[in-house]
Amino acid sequence: MRQYVNIQLISKIAGINIESIITNNSKSIIHSRGINISGNKKIEVRNIVKIFGRSPQKALSLLEQGASKQEIFEKTKQNVGLYDVNFDVYEGETFVLMGLSGSGKSTLLRCLNRLIDPTDGHILIDGDDIASMTDKELIEARRKKMSMVFQSFALLPHRSVMDNVAFGLEIQGISKEERYEKAQEAITKVGLKGYESSRTSELSGGMQQRVGLARALATDPDILLMDEAFSALDPLIRSEMQDELIALQHKLKKTIVFVSHDLDEALKLGDRIAIMKDGFISQVGTAEEILMNPADDYVSEFVAGVDRTKILTAENVMKRPEPVVSINSGLTVAMQLMKKHGISSIFVVDPEKKLQGILLIDDVVKAANEKKFLKDIMITDVPTVSPDTPIRDSIPMIAESNFPLAVINENQKLMGVIVRGSILGSLIMKEDEHNGNT
Ligand SMILES: Nc1ncnc2c1ncn2[C@@H]1O[C@H](COP(=O)(O)OP(=O)(O)O)[C@@H](O)[C@H]1O
Ligand SMILES: [Mg+2]
Repeated sequence: MRQYVNIQLISKIAGINIESIITNNSKSIIHSRGINISGNKKIEVRNIVKIFGRSPQKALSLLEQGASKQEIFEKTKQNVGLYDVNFDVYEGETFVLMGLSGSGKSTLLRCLNRLIDPTDGHILIDGDDIASMTDKELIEARRKKMSMVFQSFALLPHRSVMDNVAFGLEIQGISKEERYEKAQEAITKVGLKGYESSRTSELSGGMQQRVGLARALATDPDILLMDEAFSALDPLIRSEMQDELIALQHKLKKTIVFVSHDLDEALKLGDRIAIMKDGFISQVGTAEEILMNPADDYVSEFVAGVDRTKILTAENVMKRPEPVVSINSGLTVAMQLMKKHGISSIFVVDPEKKLQGILLIDDVVKAANEKKFLKDIMITDVPTVSPDTPIRDSIPMIAESNFPLAVINENQKLMGVIVRGSILGSLIMKEDEHNGNT
């Protein structure tokens, strides 16, 4: 109830009608960030269980009875690493495993390339169950299909950058000439050109992790497994590396599974994020889905401190642009539409829905008497944003403008409209809903 009072209070202060917030908000649309979730499944994780210890059966039967990880450890000394974990990773996706220390992220990541053998369940890579691979097939898959990048860099300190990057190719028995060529390509990709002959021990942390990344890229794997790859770096360097990974991924389009305990990092990098707790997955979703609809109290608490205005975009909070008026219409049509819908402004579009401008009711009423045309009174200097503009950047525009903000795509097409209420609504409603007070 407390939250509801809060919302009433906030809306009262802001001078906004609570009903309109609720309606606006229920119309907002959630999109993932450009990844086709109906695309090819690269990795399928099915009912994975990992119990550390010699008598997993004891732990399993307690798990089935609903015992917690802690209770099971106290009773059986078996450590539940993962329990009934399910998710898919799509080709080209950056999928983040996120959770507190000990929640099972590294265990799960290592199950993907069978550095750890799961106690139960299946993992399919390109449709093939890796549990049924022979040792030879597994080694082949590890070398060619996936590479791992570690937090600790795991470099050979006294060898050169070139030799470290070429190392994975060397153990594959590739000729010196070819491996140097491929290593050089990878070194260039991560921005280390010029450092080929430096010893890795002479490099800064950020540079060392670039070497780690280049080494992983050198074998040209489909899948990159990254375990807290940036966690050991200073904040500034870390943020820089995140940006570069995003830029690199834009070009390379690998499938990346990235482990992080840092929510900001997860939200920044992940097309989708799995939030883990005590070996379970609490929720899988896009940053927007997780922020707007946390699955349980654990996730809510996790995301409570996140600045939603940085994550949510215009697309998440916009309303359908209805009604609009055609540039070829007369002013009486515009006036009727505005009266019928009880609105004081209306966007004008061309036959292709491209934004032309906006009409204000006062101007329309005046002009109708003076027998003017729509084009005479249309305001063309309309503030616009693109669908992926963070709300943070839209807020000042809305504050300064007397009319709704138009959301247009790269072809100038009017995609949506943002009114003040829709932003405020999206920022406060979801927490409230989660507390059962809708
Ligand atoms: N080799 C191991 N033997 C016993 N328990 C382990 C082992 N590796 C991990 N665990 C336990 O599994 C759980 C998950 O660990 P981990 O996957 O390392 O978590 P995270 O990477 O999220 O910090 C923890 O309780 C940890 O103590
Ligand atoms: Mg870990």
